[in-house]
Amino acid sequence: MKILVTGAAGQLGREIVLLLGSGVNEIVAIDRDDLDFSIPEQVAEGVALHRADWVINCAAYTQVDKAEQEQEAAFKVNRDSALGVAEGVKSYGGRLLQVSTDFIFDGSQSTPFRETDSANPLSVYGQSKWEGEKAVLHAIPGAIILRTAWVYGEYGNNFVRTMLRLAAERDELGVVEDQLGTPSWTYDIARAIQALLAAEASGIFHFTNEGVASWYDFAVEIINTARELGYPVKTNRVKPIPTADYPTLATRPHYSVLSKGKIRGFLDYDIPHWRESLHAMLLRNPH
Ligand SMILES: NC(=O)c1ccc[n+]([C@@H]2O[C@H](COP(=O)([O-])OP(=O)(O)OC[C@H]3O[C@@H](n4cnc5c(N)ncnc54)[C@H](OP(=O)(O)O)[C@@H]3O)[C@@H](O)[C@H]2O)c1
Repeated sequence: MKILVTGAAGQLGREIVLLLGSGVNEIVAIDRDDLDFSIPEQVAEGVALHRADWVINCAAYTQVDKAEQEQEAAFKVNRDSALGVAEGVKSYGGRLLQVSTDFIFDGSQSTPFRETDSANPLSVYGQSKWEGEKAVLHAIPGAIILRTAWVYGEYGNNFVRTMLRLAAERDELGVVEDQLGTPSWTYDIARAIQALLAAEASGIFHFTNEGVASWYDFAVEIINTARELGYPVKTNRVKPIPTADYPTLATRPHYSVLSKGKIRGFLDYDIPHWRESLHAMLLRNPH
């Protein structure tokens, strides 16, 4: 099977290329240098020329705060080029998996968000991703939309890598305690994507690791595990702080837990708890 992965230099894209490329698949990995998603007009053709059986669109404008000031740039990549990808795939009858985000929800629930719950993005990034989803499904109703959240992995910038860096430098860290979600390891997301492709699934799916955490809980676990595994750790106190004490340009949902009931039916294994996966990632991560 030929699989085209966009955003292949990103943290999720790299993991997908490694996992799906380890078997019999032919992988075409492209990034900004190969096809620039800030020029949506060229995306359909750039995707179609590969005639891949599956396209996994991981390319995205992911700088959530910067997007508040660069609305046009975010929409070009996350909506217009997502549509371009879908149109390219549609032109030759291929299949598409579009990666999306928990930030399409407003966090107003106290129970996990299901695939059928209403979107109400709080940020430009969330709005651009939501409009990207709609554009993709309009072009290809049978596409897969895979929403995930709080992504981290060995590659690229993410919360784990930031905490590891700060933990090596500072005695004390303040971390937000009133936003809840589920940290999700790129390796586990890539495995879930592999299963959805194998099942020739279609429609919207939610995937994260199991469990619920605040950013504070996540930071404490990162630092404790890092210390246990011999990473350099100077921090001896992590202080829980409210969102109000850590102002950001973009508003983030206070509750961002995604229901995994639907995707469990497509997986022949138990989804790992976020603590277990964090430990596995830190074991794998060179330091
Ligand atoms: N990170 C999270 O916490 C999170 C949470 C939920 C969902 N997601 C979704 O998961 C997917 C993968 O995200 P990620 O965490 O792997 O993000 P990432 O590491 O930022 O990767 C995004 C990739 O898209 C590429 N890209 C950005 N602008 C581009 C452009 N104009 N032309 C071509 N490529 C461009 C980036 O290339 P450059 O490095 O050159 O910019 C990068 O390789 C995205 O759909 C994202 O919305 C992420």
